[in-house]
Amino acid sequence: MLRQPGPVSFEHLRDGIGVGVAEPRLSWVLPAGAGVQAGYEIELDRCGHVQRTGRIDSSDQVLVPWPGVPLASRERVTVRVRVWAGERPDEPSDWSPPGAVEAGLLAASDWLAVPVRADSLEIPDSDRRPVRVRRDFTLARRVARARLYITAHGLFEAEINGKRVGDDVLAPGWTVYHARLRYRTYDITDQLSEGANTIGAWLGDGWYRGRLGFNGGTRNIYGADLSLIAQLEVTHDDGTRTVIATDSSWVAAPGPVMASGLYEGEVFDARLDNPNWATPFAERTAGWAPVAVGTRDPRTLVAPQGPPVRCTQEVSPVAITRRPDGRYLLDFGQNLVGRLRITVDGPAGTAITLRHAEVLQDGELATRPLREARATDTYITAGDGPRSWQPRFTLHGFRYAEVTGWPGELNTDAVTALVHHTDMRRTGWFECSDDLINRLHENVVWSMRGNFVDIPTDCPARDERLGWTGDLQIFAPTASFLYDCAGMLDSWLTDVAIEQRPDGAVPWYVPVIPGGPLWTPIRPGAAWGDVVTVAPWVLYERFGDRELLRRQFPAGQAWVDLVARLAGPSLLWDTGFQLGDWLDPSAPPDDPAASRTDRYLVATAYFAWSARLLAWSAAELGDSGAAARYATLADDVARAFRRRYVLPSGRLTSDSPTAYCLALAFGLLVDPAQRQSAGDRLAALVLAEDARVATGFVGTPLICDALTDTGHLDVAYRLLKQTECPSWLYPVTRGATTIWERWDSLRPDGSLNPGGMTSFNHYAFGAVADWLHRVVGGIAPAAPGYRTIAYRPRPGGGITWANTRHETPYGTAALSWELTGDGMTARVTVPEGCAGMVELPGRERLTLGPGKHTVETPGRGHAALSGNHAHAEQRSGRDTPDRCSA
Ligand code: BGC
Repeated sequence: MLRQPGPVSFEHLRDGIGVGVAEPRLSWVLPAGAGVQAGYEIELDRCGHVQRTGRIDSSDQVLVPWPGVPLASRERVTVRVRVWAGERPDEPSDWSPPGAVEAGLLAASDWLAVPVRADSLEIPDSDRRPVRVRRDFTLARRVARARLYITAHGLFEAEINGKRVGDDVLAPGWTVYHARLRYRTYDITDQLSEGANTIGAWLGDGWYRGRLGFNGGTRNIYGADLSLIAQLEVTHDDGTRTVIATDSSWVAAPGPVMASGLYEGEVFDARLDNPNWATPFAERTAGWAPVAVGTRDPRTLVAPQGPPVRCTQEVSPVAITRRPDGRYLLDFGQNLVGRLRITVDGPAGTAITLRHAEVLQDGELATRPLREARATDTYITAGDGPRSWQPRFTLHGFRYAEVTGWPGELNTDAVTALVHHTDMRRTGWFECSDDLINRLHENVVWSMRGNFVDIPTDCPARDERLGWTGDLQIFAPTASFLYDCAGMLDSWLTDVAIEQRPDGAVPWYVPVIPGGPLWTPIRPGAAWGDVVTVAPWVLYERFGDRELLRRQFPAGQAWVDLVARLAGPSLLWDTGFQLGDWLDPSAPPDDPAASRTDRYLVATAYFAWSARLLAWSAAELGDSGAAARYATLADDVARAFRRRYVLPSGRLTSDSPTAYCLALAFGLLVDPAQRQSAGDRLAALVLAEDARVATGFVGTPLICDALTDTGHLDVAYRLLKQTECPSWLYPVTRGATTIWERWDSLRPDGSLNPGGMTSFNHYAFGAVADWLHRVVGGIAPAAPGYRTIAYRPRPGGGITWANTRHETPYGTAALSWELTGDGMTARVTVPEGCAGMVELPGRERLTLGPGKHTVETPGRGHAALSGNHAHAEQRSGRDTPDRCSA
């Protein structure tokens, strides 16, 4: 009998508590040896009432529809699955371990809580001192189950009886608040007891009313209040319920947080801190006053679609230097995003100041790249013995920190950097025989971590940290390999669609900062706006989520239709503002849009590509009419592109690498000879620059594929392995630990790039990692969700081995290859339920079933195996080395 499948998971969530849909989709991973699933049965245990679906003949195991009556609000159901598969398809497997799913508050009428704020306290707005709110209550009976549904205008951190609720930070994250404000659901059963209890919450400015945006930024974007919305629901041992919801009975007072801002940092005066403030035993110090009650449409309160932001790692300083004036300079050895935790003891009123920076200049923190982000935290000691502290409502991007005012000697164990980001499951790994490339890959991972902080941001340190659509558009394939970011991006794309203008224009960044100093007002721009067609397609390819594709389709359609209107009968998008091939290395520091590639060539190429993706999406969604319409549009735009931008000689009007990349990668050249000559020209241009990078945001993610696909793999490797500036490895040779925004954020002469926009943690150029995974490592999706996987490594560049692994929705896919004297040995893991198409250099394709296989070239032993024959052969040889020659 088969062993059990993995536990059922729900939607794209890491745990099933507080789901926002009544019919959450289910996924599971098959047990080893299952092969392909012939059928499944789901069991729902609704409070002891067990329902089973009976065997359903289907191979579906990812995002399978909810099989029963929809969940009611608060309803908790235990779910198990068993499958029929493997050698004995008539016998079911064991049942999976149980997984629990619990609905949040699904109906607006479930909400009794109203926003409560502290404005009756007359805290001057200039002061902006954050507040805390609190409520004491008595529970007359024992607690059987308790849940807290909670959110805020501003950021919140809740405490019950002196203990923190949950371990997530910067809740409720950043959404288009007026349309969608996320609430969180916490199981607080163990934090309550019969008798006296207290709930309290810290509130901070965050994205809701903190300063956001560059050029001074804007405050109070969503409102001027800091309000808590909380509903604590207790079910007692006798089945009765007590509900404590925010209302006029709560009280508020300023706390020890004196100031707080995402860009600014935080000031905390421990002398004002009473750690018992949220316990029934707190001294009732003066200052607590009744709250003011606000309103909020509960229909705008939504459950999270992905995991929250958490601390995921602690990093100790690798060096501490004491300056003659008493300041300490700390180096954490890694550019990261998070904050410092200090443990300090000093006379009351000692102010310790923590400043942060990504790089040093002349041995001091280089803060110019932060622009107007102060990134400074201050802790004022209470003088009552050692205390640990970290700021609550801020994060910084830094490798270095400066500490001033530290009483006595500062030791390594007194300061720790706490790494924070959306707590996604890591799913992708790559390493090879080249250590510089490994560090490059590691830097990509760190830049993703630093910028996937509730929304995908451009950079984490300066006064920006915005959801730039173009950045995510180009990085989405890499992101989807490294981490399970489906839920987080589903949420963000929901907001992208909400922020889309009625005419179809997609904002440059989402959420939009309304009324802010937008140097780029909302007007359509290629490569940025195309996020609405590209990202849903990438997520569909990588996670197999057809519903997400369906939900996002109207946004993509509105976008392509808008561009079609702008282009008019010529089908050329050749008017209006464009950022083009942003950050082409030849652009001057103060004009990153001044690329060597015609920005309208870029725009028309993206127009064709988005129409193509929309056609493919429509076909997947079963809308053959739309599929045909957009396929025709894509063909027509490609023809217009050729007429306008391809010269009779075959050269493009912009004779630049990015132009050829677009023409090749977006399938705009249909004549094979024309494609080949474009590929040859691209290779020649790369070599003319001695394989230094000559592309910006648009060309960089495409160039290695464009070279590979036209027979210039060797040139792609030369580009990859270049270490002179500009190149991917130049920053690595300069000690970079993240991907830089500019090819020369740190210039070869050691000076910082003088551009006003110089970040050292920007994932965009890290998009090359997708090529590392697919082409160097050799793992690529060949059917949605990796149901079929292409294992097609293309060694080169002197790399002698590579190990690549990806946790697909179906389970682990892995490929380790090494060059042997006369060929290659590849160890392939195909997840249960999937098919592998293995294509080693110079060999015919093999189709392999689930399991572990070893494939060698050149062949030894038996004659050519292929197709089903090979499939059968591999299945029977599972877990033993297969010696195949093609
Ligand atoms: C951001 C970019 C973004 C660009 C577009 C910059 O300030 O950091 O990554 O895409 O602006 O204008």
